[in-house]
Amino acid sequence: MPTTSSDLLIVPAEQQSNLTIRAKALAFADPRSRHLLTQLDELAPQVQPVVLAGEWGTGRELLARRLHERSGRTGLFSSLNCASLSRRHGAAELFGYVPRAYAGTSGSRVGWFGTANGGSLYLDEIADLPRELQQELARVLQEGSILRLGSSQRTEVDVRLIAGSSVELAQAVEAGHFEVRLWEFIGPGLVSIPPLRERPADLLPLARHFLAQHAERLGCAPPALTSDDEAALIDYPWPGNIRELEQVLHTALLTTSTAGLQLGKLLTRLHRR
Ligand SMILES: Nc1ncnc2c1ncn2[C@@H]1O[C@H](COP(=O)(O)OP(=O)(O)OP(=O)(O)O)[C@@H](O)[C@H]1O
Ligand SMILES: [Mg+2]
Repeated sequence: MPTTSSDLLIVPAEQQSNLTIRAKALAFADPRSRHLLTQLDELAPQVQPVVLAGEWGTGRELLARRLHERSGRTGLFSSLNCASLSRRHGAAELFGYVPRAYAGTSGSRVGWFGTANGGSLYLDEIADLPRELQQELARVLQEGSILRLGSSQRTEVDVRLIAGSSVELAQAVEAGHFEVRLWEFIGPGLVSIPPLRERPADLLPLARHFLAQHAERLGCAPPALTSDDEAALIDYPWPGNIRELEQVLHTALLTTSTAGLQLGKLLTRLHRR
C-alpha cells in the first residue's frame, strides 16, 4: 500500500515498475483529488473500461498507470496516443497481423492489444481514433476478441481498456464525430479529472514536489518558495495544468539567480505570450 503524508502519496518500490521514474511521489492534497483517487481505487479491480477525461497535462497517464498498478492484473501496461496511429496501418498496429498478411511480410506482430494481453491498454485521445477503428474497438469490447490482419479467426484477448480524452466525448457523440456504440461501452466508466485551477490545495505541494525532484536531478539544494513566489503561483490560471507547472518550475530552477526563483517575473512573461 502507498504511504501518505499530509500531501504526498509515496509509491513504494515494488509498485514503481509501471510508474514513470519521475512520478514516484504523487502529490494529491486537495479534497477533489483525494476523492478522485478513491473513485479510481474502487474502479481499479473491476474489468469495465475506464475513461479518464481531463484537460491537457492534468495527469491522465499517471492516473492510468496507477489504475493498472492497483488492478491486480499481472500483464503489462501499454500506452498509446491514438493520434500517432498510422492512417493506413492503424488496425495492424492495434490488433496485429499474421505472417504474410501484407505482401513482403513473413513475420507476425501481436499489436498493442497483444502486448497488453493480461494487462491494461491506455489509449490516449481516443476521439482521434479513425472511425472504422472506433467501430472495431466496440466489437473487441463486446466480444473480448480481436481480428488480426490476414487472419480469418478472432483471437481472444483479456485487456483492460483505459481511454484518455481531452474532448467531451458525450458532445462528440452528439455531434456525430464519435461512435455511439463505443461510447455505450466506455461511457459508464467516465471519470473526470479536474483541472489544476479547480484543486487549489494541490498547487503548492506539487510545486514543492517538482522543485525537490528537479533540484535533486540537477544536484542542487531545492530553493524555498518565498511568499511572493507562492502568491504568483496562486494567481496564475495554469491552462497547461500540472505539466505546465512542472515545466515552469524546471525553467525557474535552471534560470535561478541569487535573487531567488522570482516566479512572479517568469509567470508574467508567460502570461504575455
Ligand atoms: N499528482 C501528481 N503528482 C506528481 N506528479 C504528477 C501528478 N500529476 C501529474 N504529474 C506529473 O505531471 C506530468 C503530466 O502528467 P501526465 O503525463 O500524466 O498528464 P497527461 O494528462 O497525460 O498529459 P498530456 O495531456 O500531456 O498527455 C508528468 O510529468 C507527471 O509525472
Ligand atoms: Mg498523456
